[in-house]
Amino acid sequence: MESTRFQLEQHEIPTHWYNVVADMPNPPAPPLGADGQPVAPERMAAIFPPAILEQEMSAERWIPIPEPVREIYRLWRPSPLIRAHRLEQMLGTPARIYYKNEGVSPAGSHKPNSAVPQAYYNRQAGIRRLTTETGAGQWGSSIAFAGQMFGIEVRVYMVKVSYQQKPFRRSMMQTWGAEVIASPSPMTQTGRDLLARDPDNQGSLGIAISEAVEEAASRADTNYALGSVLNHVALHQTIIGQEAKKQFEKAGDWPDIVFAPCGGGSSFAGAAFPFIADNAAGGRQGKTVRLVAVEPTSCPTLTKGTYAYDFGDASGFTPLMKMYTLGHDFMPPGIHAGGLRYHGASSLVSQLYHEGLIEAVAVPQLATFEAGVMFARAEGIIPAPESNHAIRATIDEALRCKATGEAKTLFFNLTGHGHFDMAAYDRYFTGELENYDYPAEAIQASLLHLPKVG
Ligand SMILES: Cc1ncc(COP(=O)(O)O)c(C=O)c1O
Repeated sequence: MESTRFQLEQHEIPTHWYNVVADMPNPPAPPLGADGQPVAPERMAAIFPPAILEQEMSAERWIPIPEPVREIYRLWRPSPLIRAHRLEQMLGTPARIYYKNEGVSPAGSHKPNSAVPQAYYNRQAGIRRLTTETGAGQWGSSIAFAGQMFGIEVRVYMVKVSYQQKPFRRSMMQTWGAEVIASPSPMTQTGRDLLARDPDNQGSLGIAISEAVEEAASRADTNYALGSVLNHVALHQTIIGQEAKKQFEKAGDWPDIVFAPCGGGSSFAGAAFPFIADNAAGGRQGKTVRLVAVEPTSCPTLTKGTYAYDFGDASGFTPLMKMYTLGHDFMPPGIHAGGLRYHGASSLVSQLYHEGLIEAVAVPQLATFEAGVMFARAEGIIPAPESNHAIRATIDEALRCKATGEAKTLFFNLTGHGHFDMAAYDRYFTGELENYDYPAEAIQASLLHLPKVG
């Protein structure tokens, strides 16, 4: 009998996060201020606690996970690594397919892996209130849950289109005690300006970030928490890949290719970065692992963006980050993978892509839902629309293996379940869901507003 689930014991939860900076060929491009000079960490102390700022700048390979964080992780971690035998049979592929099920967390995705330490470090610094943004609601739910664990009040600015489409994500955040505001909102100057120009503005992740940062910067008792993009978020997510490596050892296998959806880049970083340590040391079991970020064709940051310094938010409150970007005021089409509707990508992911250490592909919306439905029918789990991007790319590779007869080992990050996304699945089944063209003109227009540096 071949095993399906590869489990770890509670004590095998990693004790350290892995910092990819230690294995990068070049130091990371620093964040810059408006004057074009690297931003001093003190400048960000108005919105982040010292421990987070230290992690943001750290080049240490291993960073210890505090015991109170591991204690909360134990509620759902280690997450299972699962061999998708039934999907392999459905596809008739000689490839071996594995996935890490991050949908088993309380919030239903990988996001609590970073929400929990962020809430912990803020509490440790005496902060009692956090603001944040959320797109599809996964990050907002996660920080609401984590805030509750450490006695911190949470206010979530939720992109208006999702606020309307996903009322139960909102209820979930309220159950964990958070306050949820539709963004753009009248609570901030950013929101008021945008609503004056267009009262029907449906919002974007970039706008919601601006609102949350604006509020946090204006109140001493309040800090800001970001669900992706920044180095410390990528760091926290590496618990995924580290567990997966131990599980692959138990399975007596090792991936040839890792796939993960890529919005801001944290789930990709989490699954892929720990394999960069092995690749840097010449590979394992004779293999270097290909690492593939999967993004939507309608918001193709890595595959069609420009590698440049840009703001992380729509209004230009954040420092400038060197990243692949579609322009900070690019408004992505309303695809259902709300977590992938972001104009930029993590600076670390961007640099690794620029230097050829990782790869990226873009896939259209309908093909992702087709893949998600195939996966659900074979494996039982209904994936989040974001996760469907990784599943599409994995299935495409498995079908290539079928054509060539190669028995590759494929691993993808099942970043979340789709239980709150059934309206999107409904639209797929009734034929209402559409593919959006690559928005070339909107991207070109937005790239004209890139800040001038140097
Ligand atoms: C289920 C799920 N997967 C993936 C993502 C993409 O984000 P990131 O690139 O930070 O992992 C999100 C973001 O909200 C998400 O909710």
